[in-house]
Amino acid sequence: MYQASNEEHPIEIVNIASLEGKVKADMEVGAFGYIRGGSEDEWTMRENTASFNQKKIMPRVLRGIDHADLSTKLWDIDLKTPIIQAPSAAQGLAHEKGEADTAIGVAATGSIFSISTYANTTIEAAAAAAPGAPQFFQLYMSKDDGFNEFILEKAVKAGAKAIILTADSTLGGYREEDIINHFQFPLPMPNLAAYSEQSASGDGEGKGIAEIYAAAKQGLVPEDIKKIKDLTQLPVIVKGIQSPEDAEVAIAAGADGIWVSNHGGRQLDGGPASFEVLPAIASVVNKRVPVIFDSGVRRGEHVFKALASGADLVAIGRPIIYGLNLGGAQGVASVLEHLNKELSITMQLAGTKTIEEVKNTQLLD
Ligand code: FNR
Ligand code: LAC
Repeated sequence: MYQASNEEHPIEIVNIASLEGKVKADMEVGAFGYIRGGSEDEWTMRENTASFNQKKIMPRVLRGIDHADLSTKLWDIDLKTPIIQAPSAAQGLAHEKGEADTAIGVAATGSIFSISTYANTTIEAAAAAAPGAPQFFQLYMSKDDGFNEFILEKAVKAGAKAIILTADSTLGGYREEDIINHFQFPLPMPNLAAYSEQSASGDGEGKGIAEIYAAAKQGLVPEDIKKIKDLTQLPVIVKGIQSPEDAEVAIAAGADGIWVSNHGGRQLDGGPASFEVLPAIASVVNKRVPVIFDSGVRRGEHVFKALASGADLVAIGRPIIYGLNLGGAQGVASVLEHLNKELSITMQLAGTKTIEEVKNTQLLD
């Protein structure tokens, strides 16, 4: 029987990078390897964080700035911070409350929670955990349209504010740690289970990520964006964009948002750092739709640099899961509050008071 953390308390954070070692000390080897791991040589995963050093922020003084205002908006959603949680599967590996606790912690900091198709918590239970707080549903489109209609209807009924269509994972990256550990998910994925009662799709328990992905739709096409919009009448954000050309294709096909991401280096190893491609994508998007950015963000200054390079919001993946493991809902809130603190310091030392001012800041090469 898989044993997950049941910690429920704030966590003391010196820096985000230090959380990984604390989680590794207590988490089952396979589960930790699945969460931490990237694909192949993990070169792109390392470049994701290292690439932020390629750009510098000029300190500015005499600007009369005595505090920073981190508030911002996405569509009609008021946010206390531009930092949101990236959807991640199987959060039951990190904590017995899984995505329900993440939803509570994210809501407590005035941010947006997104639940994965492959969550260990039902869409409804995550929504009930943080009533009224903004939540997105992240779809791994299936080959089986019956499943797609079933799960999108659940998401709409649960009050999802947008659908994230993840496009960069039609099959899994070559994740060597999972192979070495023979990692298989030890817990069921109830949103799959709810449908599998009606079909043989299974609930994910006892399967590896490659098998889970095999049931997904490999042949994703731009028309799928409109299909989701027609089914849900919700905005669709396309996640996993790294090429400006793909951003253009997605917007032309009706995408309401572009999520610049390389899946935290878990998919195509040898690709560029996500931060490296952000400016070119933001330029092509040209403010027609919001741009969300993730992969490798571990510092408030990374958030600042992404905002100054064209992102409207910045998402974090692994740090949220580490906070969940170490402190449950309050641990998740501690992670977001820590990054907010670092961002606030960076903003003030850079002479910027608001997120709009950050977005209008020129970085140095
Ligand atoms: C993910 N990610 C992910 N993305 C998605 O669209 N659906 C999913 O179910 C998952 N699952 C998942 C599990 C785990 C363990 C990780 C680490 C990541 C990718 C995630 O949304 C995000 O793109 C990256 O995690 C961002 O990089 P960092 O912040 O983890 O470096
Ligand atoms: C992963 C999938 C579930 O990165 O997105 O593990």
